[in-house]
Amino acid sequence: MSAATPMTQDELKALVGRAALEHIGHGHIIGIGTGSTVNHFIEALAQQRERIVGAVSSSEATTQRLRAHGIRVFDANEVEELAVYVDGADEIDPRGFMIKGGGAALTREKIVAAQARRFVCIVDQSKWVQTLGRFPLPVEVIPMATQRIIRQFAALGGTARVRLRDGAPLVTDNGQHILDVTGLAITDPPAFESMVNDWPGVVTVGVFAHQRAHVCLMGTPEGVRTISFDGPGR
Ligand code: 5RP
Repeated sequence: MSAATPMTQDELKALVGRAALEHIGHGHIIGIGTGSTVNHFIEALAQQRERIVGAVSSSEATTQRLRAHGIRVFDANEVEELAVYVDGADEIDPRGFMIKGGGAALTREKIVAAQARRFVCIVDQSKWVQTLGRFPLPVEVIPMATQRIIRQFAALGGTARVRLRDGAPLVTDNGQHILDVTGLAITDPPAFESMVNDWPGVVTVGVFAHQRAHVCLMGTPEGVRTISFDGPGR
């Protein structure tokens, strides 16, 4: 008998995309993130779109996808509070702290996450780390501050590079640029997030510590593992 074919990373993402539906109540407006894992969630949600009133979206790409499925998209300013925010991550650690922004949507993702009562993070198991920093840290910056911010990261031992698309700096949905920073081990994510956010010209740093996850649904070959970050200290 031949051994079962291992699940691909995309199949693990699809698994958690479907599982996230269980964390969505009925009749709510929810927040929706950006990326390939979230796209699986949107596919699953589209099958039950009467379940929600609509969504606040974290990117132009997600907005287009939601509208294509007939899901109503609300402006963030129209909605006071969201029941839940569902999004992927580039890394997540055992405290629910994350690195996000691989899809360049980190600023709107943080805004929508801040509006939500709960953050449901959906990832495949490759995203699990003990210490944040293996994935290049995305930082959205105002272009005139780029070189100074690169020097500030160098002083911390990091190497920051402008993210390119087709040979030119990638321009975010907010009209800004992205730096990707390697060589950092982020041992105190809340302090690090606050520090970098204070640097003039930083729009958003891709450490999500103040908006950390409440629960992580992790796709593994054995199924979905649910890791809760509720409890003391939250
Ligand atoms: C986009 C993000 C994504 O959540 C992150 O990059 C993970 O993406 P994917 O689900 O495609 O692996 O932060 O800005």
